[in-house]
Amino acid sequence: MAKNKKKQTELDKIVSLCRRRGFIFQSSEIYGGLNGAYDYGPLGVQLKNNIRDLWWKEMTQMHDDIVGLDASILMASKVWEASGHIKNFSDPMVDCKECKSRFRADQIDLEAPCPVCGSKDSFTEPRDFNLMFQTHIGANSGSASEIYLRPETAQGIYVNFRNVVDSSRVQIPFGIAQIGKSFRNEITTKNFIFRSCEFEQMEMQFFCKPGDDEKWFPYWREQRMAFYEKMGIRMDHLRWHQHGPKELAFYAKDAYDIEYNFVEPMQWQELEGVHSRTDYDLTQHSKFCGKQQDYLDPVTHEKYIPYVVETSAGLTRNVLMALCDAYDEEVLTTEKGEDVRTVLHFHPNLAPVKVAVLPLVKKDGIAEMAKELEQSLREEFPTFYDQGGAIGRRYRRMDEIGTPYCVTVDYDTKEDNTVTLRFRDSMEQVRIPMSELVATIKESTKNYKRK
Ligand code: GAP
Repeated sequence: MAKNKKKQTELDKIVSLCRRRGFIFQSSEIYGGLNGAYDYGPLGVQLKNNIRDLWWKEMTQMHDDIVGLDASILMASKVWEASGHIKNFSDPMVDCKECKSRFRADQIDLEAPCPVCGSKDSFTEPRDFNLMFQTHIGANSGSASEIYLRPETAQGIYVNFRNVVDSSRVQIPFGIAQIGKSFRNEITTKNFIFRSCEFEQMEMQFFCKPGDDEKWFPYWREQRMAFYEKMGIRMDHLRWHQHGPKELAFYAKDAYDIEYNFVEPMQWQELEGVHSRTDYDLTQHSKFCGKQQDYLDPVTHEKYIPYVVETSAGLTRNVLMALCDAYDEEVLTTEKGEDVRTVLHFHPNLAPVKVAVLPLVKKDGIAEMAKELEQSLREEFPTFYDQGGAIGRRYRRMDEIGTPYCVTVDYDTKEDNTVTLRFRDSMEQVRIPMSELVATIKESTKNYKRK
């Protein structure tokens, strides 16, 4: 009954918008869905690529001391022995003996009844459950062929440290950046794409002389926060959380998370980690592979295993952050009463569609003119052409997917080559010559400030 219907949370509304408008779908939906895996639809993949491109540009183009890498997902099992993932990368789990549901022991009250079936005293003793997905490589299925899907991209960087030093003209201090898929067999996969089994990471390992990490650690913390400001994220929704002694990995010197205040019911959650990892990983790989993963300074001739400052962000988690940050339901007062406008206030650089071109009417050659204009803008921006329905409805459809600029072609365009440019956030409309569109949109993007 409608009366008993659970109130939609803000997150529910975002999930529903994502599905309705083609941002994100559940994986294998037609077969009932696969938990913890998601498919990025036409708008979602563009949003994800935009964030990915901004990060990549920030790291590799704006920092001349960082180079890129794309290591494979499948790696030798020894990598995960050396990194400690085989031994330590686990969560304590309990099962309900009645309904067989599985929970993270640190996330539920073990004294309370099972939250799924309500049974009392039904939990098993906590057991460690490794988060890595195991598979086999080659024709044999014995233990020699056992491998894992990588649970982080970072190790791909460590095992290529010497390759990069030997083949590129890099000198310490320098960083290696990588974006790619990671896999973790997460049991608690609630909150949409926040914690999924298949996800993407954007990681950078910065190699420096032992001791210099004291300088680079605060530098990278500052850089990473500044990146989110550039992305147009509301700064009062971001904060730092320093790891306490219980959270800190035993080898780490220090670690901070950037937390974002996601929508209700999620609130403050980790978005990215900045970690001072010492020489732990390279020392471990030196031991396990039998080759020193060290560095010879060409000037001072000192030989050492570098220290590492890591910045580790979730790309797919960034997508959720961008959606939560942009989502808004504006109450507008119109002649017909109150009206709610759903709008995504993406920074124009993030918006999957940047410019929509809309003919006011389809007849008298207006649609043809609009189509021609849309095609001419494609070289500059991701565009969209829409001629279906009343103009007000078309604007609203564009607001809902976060299109910052709409251009309307009408009868006056035929006369004087001017068009109407509508701004998503203010809904303000200006009349400008078609020839000034590209420059006006570029200027507006450069100066964009969310109100
Ligand atoms: N190399 C260090 C590392 O992987 P982490 O804190 O485990 O550190 C870094 O992960 C980031 O990766 C997190 O801040 C988060 O953004 C993202 N991440 C981790 N697990 C995730 C998951 N299951 N689903 C989505 N994103 C995840």
